[in-house]
Amino acid sequence: MSTQVDGRAGTTDGRANRPDRAGIADRASAVRRVSAADIAAARSAFPDWRFAPNIGGHPDIYEIENRALDPDGHVLAAMRNLAPWDGRTLVDLGCGTGFWLTGYARDAARVIGIEPDPVLRANAAARIEGLPRAEVLPGSAEHLPLSDRCVDVVHARFAYFLGPGIVGRGKAADTSGGRATDTSGGTAAGAPGDPGLTEVMRVLRPGGSLIVVDNDYRWGQFADLLAAAATAAPQDTARAIDTWWRERGATRHEGRSQWRFANRADLAAVLNIEVPAAVARAWLARHPAATSLSYSCVLFAVTRSNRVSRSPAGAP
Ligand SMILES: C[S@@+](CC[C@H](N)C(=O)[O-])C[C@H]1O[C@@H](n2cnc3c(N)ncnc32)[C@H](O)[C@@H]1O
Repeated sequence: MSTQVDGRAGTTDGRANRPDRAGIADRASAVRRVSAADIAAARSAFPDWRFAPNIGGHPDIYEIENRALDPDGHVLAAMRNLAPWDGRTLVDLGCGTGFWLTGYARDAARVIGIEPDPVLRANAAARIEGLPRAEVLPGSAEHLPLSDRCVDVVHARFAYFLGPGIVGRGKAADTSGGRATDTSGGTAAGAPGDPGLTEVMRVLRPGGSLIVVDNDYRWGQFADLLAAAATAAPQDTARAIDTWWRERGATRHEGRSQWRFANRADLAAVLNIEVPAAVARAWLARHPAATSLSYSCVLFAVTRSNRVSRSPAGAP
């Protein structure tokens, strides 16, 4: 199913659900140093961890990106509409620096951020320090540190580790921040996606839902940028993603929004972590006054069946 979701149809004003404005830079001193041994231990514990060049290499700029993304809360409201989390247990899988955790914690009974990257995880833990009902745990899609059937909602925002494994689709190969180890497409390590989806279904209660947020490769100025940066045709990428999720029982929804920045420098900085420098430069030259761009995302929702099934989503 393909449904246009407009956040205005949500049960609450999306803006009210956004996290507080304090960012990781304010808390940098609270984040302990992560050693090479910590990184090596995480790699061994979570073999499915794929370093994210954008947030992993540039957490401060990704913070700006998260603030700019969906300023009117349409995407967040669409997520809430699909799987409400008031009074429930919510997992943010691949939570990065934990940008969204504080907002979720306002309404959820319990919020658990799970992140394999020790550096990002330390940032996320510092962010939620002292927040009741919120915690951050080491883990990955294929290794969730949770018991069976204990979660109502799992969010995975820009979670390239779930789905058909088209990692680095349009992302800048030259902006790895020096720590990238795998932005190749994820196919080298075998067919990705299914083990993680099976693990997510294990921890979901029957009737609970996974909500995946991905870029829309078909609509908006950001989709144009991704197309300019990619080697594969965006229609093919979009079709592969849609097919993968449809075959696993997911419903598909679109959320039209925008990226709105405080100033041009922020826009330029974010473009440079998301697409190759030449693509960013050309776009900025063609849009000399822009401080925003149109953006759309695709949401996939998979609900755990109440019935016993051998398919990853437990789909009938
Ligand atoms: C593009 S970032 C998005 C971060 C965060 N969801 C946000 O929207 O701010 C993708 C995140 O997934 C994490 N990640 C990578 N491989 C993972 C895996 N196998 N399981 C869970 N998270 C993973 C990365 O470390 C990174 O934090």
